This record gives sequence, C-alpha cells and structure tokens, in this order.
Amino acid sequence: MSIERTLSIIKPDAVAKGATGEILKRLEAAGLEIIGLKKAQLDETLAQGFYAVHAERPFYGDLVKFMTSGPVVISVLEGEGAIAKYRDLMGPTNSTEAPAGTIRGDFGTDIEKNAVHGSDAPETAKVEIAYFFDASQLVAPSQAL
Ligand code: RTP
Ligand code: MG
Repeated sequence: MSIERTLSIIKPDAVAKGATGEILKRLEAAGLEIIGLKKAQLDETLAQGFYAVHAERPFYGDLVKFMTSGPVVISVLEGEGAIAKYRDLMGPTNSTEAPAGTIRGDFGTDIEKNAVHGSDAPETAKVEIAYFFDASQLVAPSQAL
C-alpha cells in the first residue's frame, strides 16, 4: 500500500439532506486527510465532461441532470491506500444494496442518487483531481502534533 490521493464528490442528494458534515467526519475518522475542499454548482458542460467516460451509457443524460440539480462538495483526500479505503466507506454503487454503515447505505436512495463519488484507480484519480483543482489549491498533509 502507498500514500494515494482520491477525488470525492458529495452529490446533490446528500448535500441537500444536510449530510455533508457527517460524511466529511467519516472520512477524517478513517484516516483520510482533506487536502482540498470546495462547494460548487456544476453546470451541464462541467458535469458532462466529468462523466464523459459514461457518455454512451443509457443513464448519462439523467446522471448529468442529477449532478447539476444542486450544489456539490468536492474534496481531495490523501492517505494510505486512499482510493480503496474511500470506496469501502462509500459502499456499492446501488444504494439499495449498500450495507448500513456505508455512506451510500446511510445517505443514498438508489443506483443514481447514491450520495457520493469516489475515484476508482490512481490514473482516474489524477485526472479527476486536476479536473476540479489547480495544484495551488491543494495543501500538504498536516504533521502529527
Ligand atoms: P461514481 O463514479 O459516482 O463514484 O460511482 P461508481 O463508480 O460506483 O459507479 P459508475 O459505474 O462509475 O457510475 C457513475 C454514476 O452514474 C450513476 N448511475 N446510474 N441509472 C443507472 O443505472 C446508473 N448507473 C450508474 C450513479 O450516480 C453512479 O454513481
Ligand atoms: Mg465511477
């Protein structure tokens, strides 16, 4: 395992529910450090570009509509094995199959409105982080006091 970075998006459904604080708390409790953070309202172009890999999928139009339906909270997380660790905290894509205790199990609704996004591999994490953050907007992780 090595120190990795991953991109997290708290999606419009979870932000609208007021779950932002609880989700960020779980990330920190799991040892993921938030090294970049912003709230944003995605427009159609930005959401289409972010999910371009799904452009040919039947759910693409609905996904873009959902992701632009309200504000999102985007962060960069750093830590040991951060990509898999965050995917474990998230739970499976379909919220109805996500166990209680996972973010999607506790805050998601279905396969689309599933509360959070997390990068799925080092290469995609790199591209996704650069999509939303300039290097100057990320800070070095804190030192233990
Ligand atoms: P994400 O990229 O958001 O972290 O989610 P994921 O890897 O678990 O799932 P992915 O296959 O990459 O799908 C991206 C997002 O598209 C929506 N979706 N809708 N209606 C459907 O069948 C369907 N399938 C996927 C979800 O919001 C999913 O997170
Ligand atoms: Mg994905």
